[in-house]
Amino acid sequence: MKQRDQWTSKIGFVLAAAGSAIGLGAIWKFPYMVGTNGGSVFVLLFIICTVAIGLPILLAEFVIGRKGQADVVTSLKKLAPGRLWYMLGWMGLAVSFILLSFYSVVGGWILSYLARAITLRLDVADHSEYFNSIISNPLEVLLAQAVFMGLTIWIVQSGIRGGIERASRWMMPLLFIFFIILAIRSLTLDGAMEGVRFLFVPDWSYFTGTTLLLALGQAFFSLSVGVTAMMTYASYLPKEEQLGQSAVNVSILNIVISLLAGLVIFPAVFALGQSPAEGPGLIFVILPAIFSQIPFGNVFMIVFFILMLFATLTSSISMLEIVVSTGIRQRHERRKSAAWVFGILIFIVGIPSALSFGALSDVQIFGGSIFDFADTLTSKIGMPLGALCISLFAGFVLTKAQTDAELRMHPIMNALWKFLVRFVVPAAIIVIFITWIIELSA
Ligand code: PHE
Repeated sequence: MKQRDQWTSKIGFVLAAAGSAIGLGAIWKFPYMVGTNGGSVFVLLFIICTVAIGLPILLAEFVIGRKGQADVVTSLKKLAPGRLWYMLGWMGLAVSFILLSFYSVVGGWILSYLARAITLRLDVADHSEYFNSIISNPLEVLLAQAVFMGLTIWIVQSGIRGGIERASRWMMPLLFIFFIILAIRSLTLDGAMEGVRFLFVPDWSYFTGTTLLLALGQAFFSLSVGVTAMMTYASYLPKEEQLGQSAVNVSILNIVISLLAGLVIFPAVFALGQSPAEGPGLIFVILPAIFSQIPFGNVFMIVFFILMLFATLTSSISMLEIVVSTGIRQRHERRKSAAWVFGILIFIVGIPSALSFGALSDVQIFGGSIFDFADTLTSKIGMPLGALCISLFAGFVLTKAQTDAELRMHPIMNALWKFLVRFVVPAAIIVIFITWIIELSA
């Protein structure tokens, strides 16, 4: 039998896992969720959810993935023979499929903005109106989404992803430095403190079951957990690796980048008299406005959007990777065509989401746009459900001896983690979910 591919180094795995995690979740979605859900309370709940729920599940995915050493369906069949747990793999495939269908729409917006930065067309009076005119143009959004999906497919099928991840080794730190510079610029604008207050001084009236579920969904989305992406990545990991440290690093990095994105966006939102509740367009409205306040702003903006595109692609390839690896189940030779077939299907399924800000803006599903519906289906339902199953699997199906052998942390940490994935995490997800349902029906 052919030896399975493995990461050539620890850094290869950490880069891939961090690359999958850090993307639009922290940079685009986090600020807009904070803005539409009352600021600080959401920030606080997001951090708690990431540490107490997201991190143990991330570690659970690492444990299951490495123990299985195969695609998710095969791994789960192997680890729990004759039981239905392998269905989790198919669920991960379905959720990733929908995720990527709207993720690629936003990836397309980034391409649109990059093209506009290059052709010097972002110096406009009203950024909000400008953004709306872009995303309501059907031809442009579809073309941009198609190009973004094309890039994703191309990277997954041509095996150059290693190169992409190595490139992200210096691109990510550069993005980080850009964020710090932008945060300083944003924080020194007149009236910026209002934004800091919005981020850090809690207004408890926003503390509801819905906010909690949204914060939980955001933690899962931005850590890439609950869809078996991290499980897939960990299956390529050699036995010697310590999993705990990697999981902690990815989680901390994710929180730091999210907060930094908040510190870039909100001081500027208030200083420039914009609305924090702008929605999915928030960063596209605010970032060009901040860059216009910086010498050589346009040059920096071009570099910045390129870096963002990279961060986004390292996430989108992980989504397509789950679909392809689960879809073809190890038959390597069919990888290429599978990447194209699934990629094109995902693009087609994403078309209504792409058009939901223009041609299809009147179509409402459960009171939201088609785009929102795809997000609800994944962030509020699919990912929490996937995470719940993963947690129960790691908690009860794998024995303590098995998980201890994978984890190899301090015995107290091993036991604490087992306790969390057995009881605390599943209970928290169920309670949050039920509270949301009750609020919905009230
Ligand atoms: N974590 C990625 C981001 O923040 C999104 C993602 C979710 C990627 C699930 C893979 C799986 O952009």
